[in-house]
Amino acid sequence: MALEILVLAAGLGKRMRSSLPKVLHPLAGRPLLAHVLDTARELSPGKTIVVHGHGAEQVKEAFPEQNIEWVLQAEQLGTAHAVMQAMPRVSADADVLLLYGDVPLVRAATLKRLLAAAPEGLAVLTADLEDPAAYGRVVRDASGHVKRIVEQRDASPEERAIREINAGFYALSARRLSGWLKKIDNRNAQKEYYLTDLVGLAVAEGVPVVAVKAADAWEAAGVNSKGELAAIERQYQKLAAEKLLEAGVTLADPARIDVRGALDCGRDVAIDVNCVFEGRVTLGDGVRIGPNCVVRNCAIQRDTAVLAFSHLEDSEIGERCRIGPFARLRPGARLAEEVHIGNFVEVKASRVGAGSKANHLTYLGDSEIGERVNVGAGTITCNYDGATKHRTVIEDDCFIGSDATLVAPLRIARGSYIGAGSTIHKDTPAGQLTVARARQLSIPGWKPPRKKA
Ligand code: UD1
Ligand code: MG
Repeated sequence: MALEILVLAAGLGKRMRSSLPKVLHPLAGRPLLAHVLDTARELSPGKTIVVHGHGAEQVKEAFPEQNIEWVLQAEQLGTAHAVMQAMPRVSADADVLLLYGDVPLVRAATLKRLLAAAPEGLAVLTADLEDPAAYGRVVRDASGHVKRIVEQRDASPEERAIREINAGFYALSARRLSGWLKKIDNRNAQKEYYLTDLVGLAVAEGVPVVAVKAADAWEAAGVNSKGELAAIERQYQKLAAEKLLEAGVTLADPARIDVRGALDCGRDVAIDVNCVFEGRVTLGDGVRIGPNCVVRNCAIQRDTAVLAFSHLEDSEIGERCRIGPFARLRPGARLAEEVHIGNFVEVKASRVGAGSKANHLTYLGDSEIGERVNVGAGTITCNYDGATKHRTVIEDDCFIGSDATLVAPLRIARGSYIGAGSTIHKDTPAGQLTVARARQLSIPGWKPPRKKA
């Protein structure tokens, strides 16, 4: 039978105290809902239906390319009410997996165990928590069978002491689901239609309820407040760091790295403290990342060192380069091998050839720099005339003196030398020294001005 997954994502998330819909709050740089949908995809469902409501357009727009059926829950009258809105889209003979969009860390393997338990009746994912907080409690009878789920607000003091909680994931047949939904009412503390009532209804009909325990309690962690979001972020990052360590990456401190995307590392990669990796980042064998670096969507080839406080974005970096400290690579920086980019150097939309160096205080934008070029301190490519961007080409083996101002469009021909402090606005001939600055004068007999008495 076909599996159909239903994700509930219509809630406002009052306790987040934010105008952003809850399921769009980022975990590791991506919306909570994106994590749930990734896990759902691993189960290869025939259909994925997302119930949205609060911030409907915003939520939908955040997932433009995915194969999702959207169902609107115009008024948020509870989790069961949300499922009711989606039932017309669910095939009558489907196996249904219900997921909450605010519980992002569950593993696909755990959901597979939940699905495997469903044919017997109703399968519910639970977890044992040290602090069951505001979760729904799993109430069992004397012989240990699940009797019902009670929300914290509706629970008696004895029930509140129960540490087994409802993670918010259920697997059952569409046939049973639609039957039970008709019987759910809103007579409870919140006057909402609770999906958790499925459990009591199953028990009343003598249908077995199977509680499947999550392998790790954090799989059941839900996000309802900024505190919970921060805790789940730490849990996510702890797992990401453990994966890197297992893959042989050296982390100066596994508690001080943040991976917001996919980080792929070769052998003998070392990452110092407080680094943030965003988007897709690949680090070749022997790459070293110094402390306090931000690297976003970059490919860095083997044996390159990125030194402290560097910020790298949408760039490609060759082998054996040295970047930083305090370097900035902006989108479109493409460095060949053995390039040195030093402190307070910014490179944007520029190719830098093998063995070239810009070691201090420089801006290279919209430029093409050949091999073995030395760019002196304080050099600026003036790429923008206020309306249009222009390109600077510096051919192989050039030497650009300190504080040169290169007014684009411009070509510095092979082997040119540029005198320090020059403003160059015309192409230079190959192999010659070009100087463009006022001649130095000293005036004999000159007297400093004196104040009048
Ligand atoms: C819910 C469960 C609780 C469980 C906990 C796990 C119910 C009644 N309670 O409580 O037993 O321990 O999750 O995290 O189900 N939603 C809608 N439409 C609505 C209401 C909610 O789509 O009308 C969505 C929310 O966007 C959210 C999910 O359903 O993704 C759960 O809703 P939430 O309000 O967070 O329920 P909890 O109080 O966390
Ligand atoms: Mg919740």
